[in-house]
Amino acid sequence: MRVLLVYYTGTYNTRYLTDMLIGELEERGHRAERVEIARGVPPADTSGYDMIGFGYPIYGFNSPLPFNRYVKKLKIGAGQKFFIYKNSGETFAMNNASSRILLRRMRAKGAVFSGEYHFVMPYNIHFPFDKDFVREILFEDRKLLKVLVHDLESGRAPKIASNIVYNAAAAAVSVQKIGGAVNSFFYRVDPEKCVNCGLCVKNCPEQNISQKDGRITFGHRCDMCMRCSFFCPTNAIDIGFLQGWKVNGDYRLAELDRLGPPDSPYITAESKGFYKCFINHFSDIDKRYAELIDAEDDK
Ligand SMILES: Cc1cc2nc3c(=O)[nH]c(=O)nc-3n(C[C@H](O)[C@H](O)[C@H](O)COP(=O)(O)O)c2cc1C
Ligand code: SF4
Ligand code: SF4
Repeated sequence: MRVLLVYYTGTYNTRYLTDMLIGELEERGHRAERVEIARGVPPADTSGYDMIGFGYPIYGFNSPLPFNRYVKKLKIGAGQKFFIYKNSGETFAMNNASSRILLRRMRAKGAVFSGEYHFVMPYNIHFPFDKDFVREILFEDRKLLKVLVHDLESGRAPKIASNIVYNAAAAAVSVQKIGGAVNSFFYRVDPEKCVNCGLCVKNCPEQNISQKDGRITFGHRCDMCMRCSFFCPTNAIDIGFLQGWKVNGDYRLAELDRLGPPDSPYITAESKGFYKCFINHFSDIDKRYAELIDAEDDK
């Protein structure tokens, strides 16, 4: 298969997932290319691909606005096969509604659904994940990626079921349209902490940050992607009404990935509260992965 992966990323979790997916596809003898959505990136030429994969991080139970805008502009031939690989920090059922806009757009273009997959990646907002938890997440993600690639080969097209209640609730909390524009009025940089490294200016996907006479200023074209504040080496950026939920500091995913899973499972049958949703999520992945290994052994 020749596969095109079109994705949006804020703090590079989706980029990391995309690269893991490319690795899995290539290991199975497929060819994969990727396009990262950002301001100024023209709609990709999708002709000549057997499959298109759409990747995005879930923002408030929805797909990110820049992702939706980009997909709207994409020319997709009728009959084009596509799949979805989305990710988020938790797997609450409300997240099931996040692809409804993408699915509607693809249906309107006559594209053919070939599966939807929900990966967990560490939170870039709300609170930082423990390193051992991230190691376990990446270990489970790798299994799900193998399942995904085999599904694409066999034509199995698993759906993630949403319903009218989740869809309506997700639409109601979709505040992104004004969220970034309004919140960015309150972004501030602490001059005592800022070392003028220019990283935030260089990396903002919306080219929304400027640096003049050693002062950092923000425009109002913000996606709320958290890239600037997440990677600021001195944690100097105040992100307005989300400041209490700010997560600062690179997880160093490649290093944690290389270490493999933690010595003892992070999520167990006794996991409680926030962590409870991962019990079923990980056991579903383990089940599907075991089926895959069994099927391979039978060959
Ligand atoms: C504005 C915003 C809203 C988010 N909303 C959710 C959410 O509703 N559910 C969730 O599980 N994670 C949520 N997250 C966390 C991200 O989905 C998660 O950390 C993702 O892996 C980030 O991917 P990226 O690094 O490619 O941007 C949100 C993150 C941001 C910045
Ligand atoms: S990334 Fe942080 S330290 Fe670097 S210029 Fe931006 S605000 Fe200053
Ligand atoms: S200003 Fe910061 S949060 Fe907003 S789009 Fe740019 S990098 Fe992302």
